[in-house]
Amino acid sequence: MQKIDIKALQGNAVSLFDDKWCLITAGTKDSYNTMTASWGAMGELWNKDVCFIFIRPQRYTKEFVEREELFTLSFFGQEYKKALTFCGRYSGRDYDKAKETGLTPVEIDGSMTFGESETVIVCKKIAQQEIAPAGFIDKDIDSKNYPTKDYHTMYIGEVIACYTK
Ligand SMILES: Cc1cc2nc3c(=O)[nH]c(=O)nc-3n(C[C@H](O)[C@H](O)[C@H](O)COP(=O)(O)O)c2cc1C
Repeated sequence: MQKIDIKALQGNAVSLFDDKWCLITAGTKDSYNTMTASWGAMGELWNKDVCFIFIRPQRYTKEFVEREELFTLSFFGQEYKKALTFCGRYSGRDYDKAKETGLTPVEIDGSMTFGESETVIVCKKIAQQEIAPAGFIDKDIDSKNYPTKDYHTMYIGEVIACYTK
């Protein structure tokens, strides 16, 4: 993979999350977990290039993102949509997702990604915030997205590296 400036990343950020999806991965080769995400954002905050991700409390991946300083966002070609569907349907508590999907876990800059990814963004956690319903101005957000009150935690990661194939 080739290291690039995040500003040289091709593609539309909204489409990257909403249409392409990504894997959020955190941990080490011996102890990591990954899950599919389609809610997220990239942009600028506090004079840093950042990514925002949103993780519900019941996700196994949350334990790893909480524990680790780094997480990665890995984007794949369309041919891996089936693998991402698996990683978004089943938990790492019950399955070895790499074994089930054939994805190859690889270390990158002190975190983990997969050899098959076409773009990897390595992020350092710099802030986190519980999403609280008191902050919803559009009250439909609560009823449409949180019928069981499992509010996301938002993690803001400073982009420390970006790689593409
Ligand atoms: C397309 C897609 C997008 C998803 N986006 C998110 C997300 O942004 N945040 C989240 O908490 N869960 C999201 N999920 C659900 C998790 O990926 C799913 O619950 C997964 O099985 C969690 O795995 P884990 O328990 O191993 O962490 C998404 C699932 C799919 C299929």
